[in-house]
Amino acid sequence: MRNVVLSMENIDKRFAGVHALKGVDFTLYEGEIHALVGENGAGKSTLMKALTGIFPKDSGEIHFMGKLFNPQGPKEALDAGIAIVHQELNMMEHLTVAQNLFIGRESTKRTSWWLDEKGQNQRARELFKRLNMNIDPEEKLSDLTVGKQQMVEIAKAVSHNLKVLILDEPSAALTEREIDDLFAIMRDLAKKGVAMIYISHRLDEIGVITDRVTVLRDGEYVGTKETKDLTKEEMINMMVGRVIYEKPKSHSNVPEGAPVVMKVENLNAGHQVQNISFELRKGEILGFAGLMGAGRTETMRALFGADNASGNIWINGKKAIIESPIDAIRYGIGYLSEDRKRFGLALNLSVHENAIMSSFEDLSPKFLLPQKDMKKVSQEYTEKLKVKTPSLDQIVKNLSGGNQQKVVIAKWLIKNSSILIFDEPTRGIDVGAKSEIYHLMNELVQKEGKSIIMISSELNEVLRMSDRVAVMCEGKLTGIVDIEDASQERVMALATSRG
Ligand SMILES: Nc1ncnc2c1ncn2[C@@H]1O[C@H](COP(=O)(O)OP(=O)(O)OP(=O)(O)O)[C@@H](O)[C@H]1O
Ligand SMILES: [Mg+2]
Repeated sequence: MRNVVLSMENIDKRFAGVHALKGVDFTLYEGEIHALVGENGAGKSTLMKALTGIFPKDSGEIHFMGKLFNPQGPKEALDAGIAIVHQELNMMEHLTVAQNLFIGRESTKRTSWWLDEKGQNQRARELFKRLNMNIDPEEKLSDLTVGKQQMVEIAKAVSHNLKVLILDEPSAALTEREIDDLFAIMRDLAKKGVAMIYISHRLDEIGVITDRVTVLRDGEYVGTKETKDLTKEEMINMMVGRVIYEKPKSHSNVPEGAPVVMKVENLNAGHQVQNISFELRKGEILGFAGLMGAGRTETMRALFGADNASGNIWINGKKAIIESPIDAIRYGIGYLSEDRKRFGLALNLSVHENAIMSSFEDLSPKFLLPQKDMKKVSQEYTEKLKVKTPSLDQIVKNLSGGNQQKVVIAKWLIKNSSILIFDEPTRGIDVGAKSEIYHLMNELVQKEGKSIIMISSELNEVLRMSDRVAVMCEGKLTGIVDIEDASQERVMALATSRG
């Protein structure tokens, strides 16, 4: 029998209008990696926040290392040896990496913490080296990719004297390589007796890295199983009961002779975007594959007018001048950013306000459309996407991570753009909702004649959704492959070829 390090019994938590946890049980063994899975809004993050004292539970008991445990806040949990890496990054963007690492526990020897900058940088460097992370402590956090920022958060948690590490969707923003690094770190920690709770919607990962799986559904405890005794289908069954399956594409659905809706020629923006040229056709889903740092997001930002760029763009055969996102939106381009917190959502506004935010002009010329009609529109789309929220007036900040992502998608669907750029659209989205989003994307191109550019780090997703696959490597477009000719091997070869 293995040692129990942590047990939670009969945990209950209500928010206004939402019964988020309904008597949930959870047991964690020393040194095990334990997956916590369930649909968006199932209660995973809430359970972890109740555990670390971020907010109080309504009832139930937690035992940690044999004693009753009731932390009044995350600091107290951390001091006891329980660290949490949150789903939404939670750091100071204007500070350096090292400053973020040591925030709240700056070197006490000096009176002013910034005086010990050098010592901090040195300690950060050692930590990254130990964790095998290639990150410069002196860089500003805002200059790092989301993936790298996530790594800093993990390093920050690991640097404490740990007994339990909670990782709330750490892999959502990471590339395959970074995930391998993360898994190596996790295995190493497990060997040292650290127990981990691992939340992820990537079910394949769960089979690879975890020992046991606990499933939540709608705030209820469904069960706990040994990972090795559980197939992916059984896991999905425990989570949702059923999943609509959107068939992968084996051939292009774009009709012969479909017009080119956008032509990009020699787009340049720094070293991440070098001489990018491609065409997008009506009714097409053009996938963009590549490794992290290949320049896909930068290319789309340049195209969208978010960054300084040079080059030529034609929309429907006419030369387009795009100098800002507002210009891009006027040309009918919508951009769903990979970083929803920074670019996609106003967290303190309601679901409804976010959904209609960029659509005022189309929906209500001269603002005449009554509020209740606008609500109908946001109602329709949030229902289509099955956004889990007690009402349209709920503040977006209070939604679960995956449901926030759905609101961003709703926003661009309502905006009625004819060209949609989706940057990692299904990051953090559960299996069921993922299929729904795939289905919706296919409908948008096939029934409504829109065109979609989809960036995804999940090669499977690119291969099942795209009519053609564009591949980037180190700022260059290294190839565009028809879906009939695209395979994992072919795409990976292009993603690592220097062109
Ligand atoms: N502060 C809050 N105020 C109101 N409701 C909340 C709050 N935090 C969470 N909820 C609600 O509680 C439910 C559970 O949310 P939770 O964040 O735990 O889901 P999750 O399982 O982590 O989902 P995801 O996979 O999308 O991250 C959701 O319906 C969510 O909207
Ligand atoms: Mg969550």
